[in-house]
Amino acid sequence: MASLIIMVFAVFSFFITAVTPSGDFWTLNCPSSIVAIAGQTTVISCNFKNIQEINIVAVVLKKDMEEDTTFQMYKGETSGNQRFSLKNQKMGPSLQISETMFSDEGKYLYRVVTDRGAKEVQLSISITAKYKDPITSTWPEKVTEGGPVDLYCNATDGYPAGFIHWFDGSGTNWTMNSEMIKTNKDSNSVKSVALSSKLTFKTINFAFAPFTCIVFNSKYVEDGKSTLQIQSARSGEQSDSSGSNTTNIVAGVMVIGSLIVGLLFALLLFRKKKYSEYTFDIHSKVMNREILLKMMWKMVKQFRALKLLLSRDETETISPDFPTEVSTVAI
Ligand SMILES: *[C@@H]1O[C@H](CO)[C@@H](O)[C@H](O)[C@H]1NC(C)=O
Ligand SMILES: *[C@@H]1O[C@H](CO)[C@@H](O)[C@H](O)[C@H]1NC(C)=O
Repeated sequence: MASLIIMVFAVFSFFITAVTPSGDFWTLNCPSSIVAIAGQTTVISCNFKNIQEINIVAVVLKKDMEEDTTFQMYKGETSGNQRFSLKNQKMGPSLQISETMFSDEGKYLYRVVTDRGAKEVQLSISITAKYKDPITSTWPEKVTEGGPVDLYCNATDGYPAGFIHWFDGSGTNWTMNSEMIKTNKDSNSVKSVALSSKLTFKTINFAFAPFTCIVFNSKYVEDGKSTLQIQSARSGEQSDSSGSNTTNIVAGVMVIGSLIVGLLFALLLFRKKKYSEYTFDIHSKVMNREILLKMMWKMVKQFRALKLLLSRDETETISPDFPTEVSTVAI
């Protein structure tokens, strides 16, 4: 049936071309190379140039190296691949492909027969697939300032192979320092490429963060991007140091508090002493002085102990009163 139509159509188009020598002053304009996106509707816009009154009688779309026509229309009747159709026939012989597939890729011959003659053009369809939003990661997961780190940016399910570029927080291009791995996947007539880019730092400077990776398709059109937050290993340390900060503060409050209490106590005793100078005997005065001295000595010891507690790893602040500690540190 199909071959019969083609034969009839071939004879018919030959006849038309033969009987209308004026068919040469108009042209059929179609894009010669079409980049279609897999899974989407592709429109191949064609129109007639240098002619007003023209009616499409038939079209035939034939793929290179294939025997059967891909799609054809003769006097309103279409046949062939159901995903192919004529779009807005009154405006021109534009083709539409719904749910474009990788199998649609290739070179075609597109013949359009009109009541003013026939024309033929070559179409080249290539299929691309948009990359999914990139996924970023770092190795190690927790990064130390000044330490080594690998930044990863992975994009999958795109086609054909694209590119990944790296930029830091100030927009400086770091792509030169990165390397990319492309992995081709070809299953069930679906082609895809997985891209993985690694940006390596021997010593990372957090001032450069955040880093952004941009995924480009094969035609250098941006498909997606992702900004990578570097997780600092120091955040753990920081909470540690803030913990020791609280002990510092507690110790400080304790030192100052005991000093104030001690001073108040001393003041009280002095006052008592002054007040009782005439009523107490010499014995009690001596007692008072001894108590005061003992108390002050206790306070000094306490203060030294606290000071040591606060600066355990600073040898120069350790007083010779604590030889065991000093020798420990020295070892
Ligand atoms: C990205 O790809 C690399 C190399 O294939 C892999 O080692 C890494 O785990 C991937 N990262 C993510 C987040 O998928
Ligand atoms: C970034 O660097 C890469 C590799 O050197 C280069 O191909 C790309 O054009 C640069 N991008 C910009 C925006 O400068």
